[in-house]
Amino acid sequence: MRKIVIAFQGNENIAAYIVDGLMASLGEIEMRKFPDGETYVRLITDVLDKEVVVVATLHRPDDKFLSLVFLLRLLRDGGASKITLVAPYLAYMRQDKQFKPGEAVTSTYFSELISPFIDELVTIDPHLHRHHSMNEIYSANAKVLHASKSIATWIKTSVSNPLLIGPDSESEQWVSQVAALANAPYIVLNKERHGDRNVEISFPEISSFHERTPVLVDDIISTAHTMIVTAKRLLELGFNKPICIGVHAIFADNSFQELQEAGAAQIVTCNTIAHSSNGIDLSSIIIDALQ
Ligand code: R5P
Repeated sequence: MRKIVIAFQGNENIAAYIVDGLMASLGEIEMRKFPDGETYVRLITDVLDKEVVVVATLHRPDDKFLSLVFLLRLLRDGGASKITLVAPYLAYMRQDKQFKPGEAVTSTYFSELISPFIDELVTIDPHLHRHHSMNEIYSANAKVLHASKSIATWIKTSVSNPLLIGPDSESEQWVSQVAALANAPYIVLNKERHGDRNVEISFPEISSFHERTPVLVDDIISTAHTMIVTAKRLLELGFNKPICIGVHAIFADNSFQELQEAGAAQIVTCNTIAHSSNGIDLSSIIIDALQ
């Protein structure tokens, strides 16, 4: 039976790859705002007894959450036999504990809000840190995919003599895998975050790597301050301009430009969030997971 793929607004490109890869049909919806700002959703394609895949990456989740939930609920009403949410970037994974008394642990709250509307979630490198697996927070069946192979392939074909650098201990899980696959050495730095845009990075002794091309690898680039501070320090230490690789290109405000100005030789991201820096296509791993 042919699956139906529905592209949530802004996900049309990656959804088109998924439609082709699955030989699925593209579902049609109408979604717009009423003049008062409320959301209108209409399902045009018949989904009765069909498996439906909704592609909705979830950066800036507050802007899209209600519309997405209305759509998912409508699919249930329309009789879809299975609803899969493909969220290449999954929101609210970083607030995974109370850092200060009284804080909301929104990773858990968000999972509780979305899980009842879906049967399955497919996502790429969610920020699993203090939660060790998605099953700890998501009641829907969750498939976690990884960008490491694709990033390693990009590095192998595009960078000579790389030194992979993870900017903090959380990044070790990604950078170590990528380094193994790319056959390159890696180091992990120490990061202390004092505020959204205030991070302090300390380096181990790395002078023996001077001849290498520094390649920063992280899961999320948001304010880019993690990479900005690291890039500036590498230049002070006499290294070449670093290549900055992120899985998820959030790039808040004008952080992309700030990272360029901080001395990044090149900024490359995966297409989990559409952005001009997307240079690593992950649609094939999503297609494999849905087959
Ligand atoms: C945090 O632990 C993540 O792995 C990233 O390092 C972080 O989200 C990057 O954020 P920003 O770009 O705002 O420094």
